[in-house]
Amino acid sequence: MASRTAPTLRPARRIAELPPYLFAEVDRRIAEKRAQGHDVISLGIGDPDLPTPEHVVRALESGARDAANHRYPDYYGLRDLRVAIADWYRDRFAVALDADTEVIPVIGSKEGIAHLPTAWVDPGDVVLVPDPGYPVFSIGTMLANGEIYWLPLTAERDFLPDLRSIPREVARRARVLWLNYPNNPTAATAPLEFFREVVDFAWENELLVCHDNAYSEVAYDGYRAPSFLQVDGAREIGVEFHSLSKTYNMTGWRIGMAVGNRTAIEALGRVKTNVDSGIFQAVQLAGIAALRGDQTWLEGRNQHYQRRRDAVVSGLRRLGIDVTPPLASLYVWGPVPAAMKSVDFSLRLLDEVAVWITPGVGFGPAGEGYFRVSLTTPDDRLEEALTRLTKVQL
Ligand SMILES: Cc1ncc(COP(=O)(O)O)c(C=O)c1O
Repeated sequence: MASRTAPTLRPARRIAELPPYLFAEVDRRIAEKRAQGHDVISLGIGDPDLPTPEHVVRALESGARDAANHRYPDYYGLRDLRVAIADWYRDRFAVALDADTEVIPVIGSKEGIAHLPTAWVDPGDVVLVPDPGYPVFSIGTMLANGEIYWLPLTAERDFLPDLRSIPREVARRARVLWLNYPNNPTAATAPLEFFREVVDFAWENELLVCHDNAYSEVAYDGYRAPSFLQVDGAREIGVEFHSLSKTYNMTGWRIGMAVGNRTAIEALGRVKTNVDSGIFQAVQLAGIAALRGDQTWLEGRNQHYQRRRDAVVSGLRRLGIDVTPPLASLYVWGPVPAAMKSVDFSLRLLDEVAVWITPGVGFGPAGEGYFRVSLTTPDDRLEEALTRLTKVQL
């Protein structure tokens, strides 16, 4: 082969245009610093350090021993899981769902969110995406060759998008509106009144609202997050993504759900049956155990996060950074001090005290000027990180 010139291969343009996944890039930078011998404490990613409850682990164990679960799972998930999801929605939100047509399990909500635009968006269709926001809303849109219209989330509007600012012709061309409350990264919550406005907007413009409710069960000070589907008229235009990841400390298990509008659930199911083969059934049985089992422990878990939240808020205030204690989510969102760029601030903390926090701009241009601290670091490491931060001269 020596005399032949190797052919030039290139990936699809849509891949070349994708930004690197934020957290993959973060992992690389932290690994680099660790390789230099530094004991880096990452307050970056929202990945619960607290274990999955014992009864859920036991359900996986017994499910894994049953050979019936070693085969390909059902395409649409075990019916018992779909019914458990519908029952959970009924008990938690008083939302009635048909387990056969309005519920589909997903391989973690990230998978469902990434695939939804493939099911719903034609090339050139507009997708309304919050900025800052969970990156998969825009990435899924790009993979479907949709056109993103960014909705800035600002402190002045409590990090809720201003739907009236969307030009009429953009709203008319829009096929999907992504929303996420309790919000990542801003930790903002949405009142039902806002969801009512969203329903009116979606009816008027005939678009699908995709609400990501991944953090509804991580809440503080007695706050109870609503479901978008609680609002009259939401089911006709909306789906909601939810996940067992943050609710039950199960990020590694890869199990979540999409529920709501049956046309959208059917379309998502059509994509999924063609590209994946479902969730390992033992994991589905564990999911059922989580959804049907004791829910009272969640309160203690949330109190644990709340203590961390309070420690972070006071730690940051000691540094002169004023942050609002969030009512929900795994994050504290705060303003970068001294008019620094958010990346410069994060890199400075990494360099000076080997603590990593996520720069707000990583979630979109409107995140510039902010940083995000995650509450999923073990208590002793979080304390150590907060002590280290006091040594930074701002
Ligand atoms: C807003 C939001 N949605 C969805 C997810 C995905 O969660 P999973 O795929 O584990 O269900 C995350 C994960 O961090 C998130 O922050």
